[in-house]
Amino acid sequence: MELGLKNKTAFITGGSSGIGYAIAQTFVEEGAHVIIASRDYSKVEAAVKNLKRKNPTVKVTGKELDLTDEKKIKKVVSEIQKSATIDIVINNVGGPATGHTLDISLEGWDKGYHSLLRSVILLSQLLVPGMKKKKWGRILTITSTSAVEIIPKLPVSATFRAGLTAYAKSLAKEVGRAGVLVNNLLPGPTGTARLEELKKKSPAFFESMAQETAVGRVATPEEIAKVAVFLCSNANTYLTGTDVLVDGGYTKAL
Ligand SMILES: NC(=O)c1ccc[n+]([C@@H]2O[C@H](COP(=O)([O-])OP(=O)(O)OC[C@H]3O[C@@H](n4cnc5c(N)ncnc54)[C@H](OP(=O)(O)O)[C@@H]3O)[C@@H](O)[C@H]2O)c1
Repeated sequence: MELGLKNKTAFITGGSSGIGYAIAQTFVEEGAHVIIASRDYSKVEAAVKNLKRKNPTVKVTGKELDLTDEKKIKKVVSEIQKSATIDIVINNVGGPATGHTLDISLEGWDKGYHSLLRSVILLSQLLVPGMKKKKWGRILTITSTSAVEIIPKLPVSATFRAGLTAYAKSLAKEVGRAGVLVNNLLPGPTGTARLEELKKKSPAFFESMAQETAVGRVATPEEIAKVAVFLCSNANTYLTGTDVLVDGGYTKAL
């Protein structure tokens, strides 16, 4: 299958580690140029170095960016647009505050709204017009199975990610005729550093998550990345406005 990603440019937020990094790596392997961004610039620099080694023929750059900072998002996008046109946006960020629904502070809810949902709305406002002009674009947001089935102590994730389900569908309806496809990818438990920490703290809980999947194990970040890159490729021509579960059968909801 020809993915047609050579010379496309993908902007991947939260691209310095975990699922975001694996997605960046897969794009690079497929010949796309990538721009990654996250808060800790030393992590960004290290990731850029590693990605360049994977494919020295593509452009790989990195930006310092906190997705809760509106001004910084606008600044970074305008800097990028001086020398590149973004064809693909991967909206990815760290998980929000966790805890019982009534115990999470308003600050925790605000931060969750800003990082998970508002950043996606803003980046779409900034980048979709350019995609419509080119009559090609892909927007993919990494959310969670919490968007479709409640996971204990993840009410912030569930609330804003269910919002992202509605947002993707709304936007997809408005931009599909201009060649722009908009989706969410919902990973199940995935073996990133975040999950490794959980495994150390609570091995029994980690094992129960693995056992709750149909395949009996957690995903590798690369397994998530393959689906993400397909959704953002030329090979995907008809899948839009939808939540794509990549959870090894973890979710019980129909
Ligand atoms: N791993 C799983 O099992 C799993 C399952 C379902 C859903 N998810 C969701 O998938 C996403 C990625 O998970 P992951 O396990 O790959 O996480 P991760 O390894 O912690 O990576 C998160 C990435 O986002 C960046 N980031 C965090 N906050 C940011 C901010 N405010 N602005 C910009 N960048 C930010 C981090 O870099 P900096 O620290 O440098 O900012 C890092 O590059 C999360 O939203 C998570 O909720 C994960």
